Amino acid sequence: MQSQQRAFVNPLRSAEDRRLPRIADPSALVIFGVTGDLSRKKLMPAVYDLANRGLLPPGFALVGFARREWADQDFARVVHDAVQEHARTEFREEVWEQLLEGIRFVSGDFDSDEAFGRLKTTLGELDRERGTCGNHAFYLSIPPSGFEPVMRQLKRHGLAEQVPGSWHRVVIEKPFGHDLESARELDAVVSQLFKPQEVFRIDHYLGKETVQNILAMRFANQLFEPLWNNNHVSHVEITMAEDIGIAGRAGYFDGIGIARDVMQNHLLQLLALAAMEEPTNFDAAQLRTEKQKVLAAARVPADLARHTARGQYAPGWQGGKEVRGYRQEEGVPDDSRTETFAAMRVDIDNRRWAGVPFYLRTGKRMPRRVTEVALSFKRPPHLPFTATDTADLGTNALVLRIQPDEGVTLRFGAKVPGTQMEIRDVSMDFGYGGSFTESSPEAYERLILDVLLGEPPLFPLQEEVELSWRILDPVLEHWAELPEQPEQYAPGTWGPRSADEMLARDGLAWRRP
Ligand code: BG6
Repeated sequence: MQSQQRAFVNPLRSAEDRRLPRIADPSALVIFGVTGDLSRKKLMPAVYDLANRGLLPPGFALVGFARREWADQDFARVVHDAVQEHARTEFREEVWEQLLEGIRFVSGDFDSDEAFGRLKTTLGELDRERGTCGNHAFYLSIPPSGFEPVMRQLKRHGLAEQVPGSWHRVVIEKPFGHDLESARELDAVVSQLFKPQEVFRIDHYLGKETVQNILAMRFANQLFEPLWNNNHVSHVEITMAEDIGIAGRAGYFDGIGIARDVMQNHLLQLLALAAMEEPTNFDAAQLRTEKQKVLAAARVPADLARHTARGQYAPGWQGGKEVRGYRQEEGVPDDSRTETFAAMRVDIDNRRWAGVPFYLRTGKRMPRRVTEVALSFKRPPHLPFTATDTADLGTNALVLRIQPDEGVTLRFGAKVPGTQMEIRDVSMDFGYGGSFTESSPEAYERLILDVLLGEPPLFPLQEEVELSWRILDPVLEHWAELPEQPEQYAPGTWGPRSADEMLARDGLAWRRP
């Protein structure tokens, strides 16, 4: 029989069948905590960007709820300025005018029955005048202490009642508790008031294009998955570094620390996506099941002193500027034990990953802002070259660059031109910027749209939240018992010495991206 290599032709692909993006249902998005930073820098601009991309229907309304005594126009001006300053897409007057028609503001406290009564009236008017059809999404961009009072008020005022033909959804932002126990307590409140399918937990990393690309890379290609296991991978490093300090957020950050702030959610979600098995399809249930399975198999090794590290940034110089140390930041007590750098090793007890450590690290005031997932491969079992020829040859690596320089790098050895068989590391790069003309939507654009569409795959379930706390809690307890302060590190460096020692004990060194 003659074998024939033929190009695969996809019979479904034609100019007409490109999938059209879905437009959100007519609906009102109510944002609590509308005067906060997240709302100004991310949520309002994302709403505008969605409108500008034609993904919001004419019957859309944006309702702000906060203590300020603002009229609708005052709030509209705030939205306008936030959009001008932070939106990703260009400002178009006609888009803004249309959005403006649906902007409302309700002033009041979370415990004010009267204010929630006015919110109900406002939503009723919008349903009639703008045709928002009783579809309401409540975005709680507020500290966790406000979740319960707001949700109870929504319930009390009938804003969480099931009305046939319409929906209501509630969106909550991390932190989902500060340990396993408090996460369960929070969930007990949430699930008393809302059904699981009405609750959208935001981990904004899941809305990033490059994070979703981890799944595309792994499961849309034949090239990588055969290598994606302990036969070939020696270890994995997941880094989320920021060059900024706490940026005036002492009230939120101190006492929480960076492990609770981003490790429990963003980094463990990256680990879950990089390590999980292939889901049957990308339905919410399938995806979440696979993530839960791998998180359930993950743990920090028992010797916590050996396999974790924490630090706090000291005063010093960064980028030619003198910067404060963490304990000198405004609002931070000068004896604070809150960590601004955290690192830990995670082992995964399953057939695919047994023996492959995953090293997670995150820190503020690092040399640069970078998030990446880097797989390092084992050395070839035999190198038929002289030791001198391969003196500069490292190991192969595949680096998924999540941000800011979005793309993928493959590092491998190549012959140096010349008469010798000298081999050195080179890299092959894919960059989003060079391969696609359109810029990536912001994570919050995708996530807000998914809330309005009722698309749950990118929102972690309570089970994932609990599994992540189960991994992190022993580390936090161990650190809390240590008598000493977190080790200081100079700003603009890759963290405390103890983090380097942690890897050195395993015979490795951190990447310096
Ligand atoms: C947030 C954290 O979740 O993520 C912040 O609370 C952090 O501390 C931020 O700065 C980083 O997000 P991004 O998208 O800029 O990496």
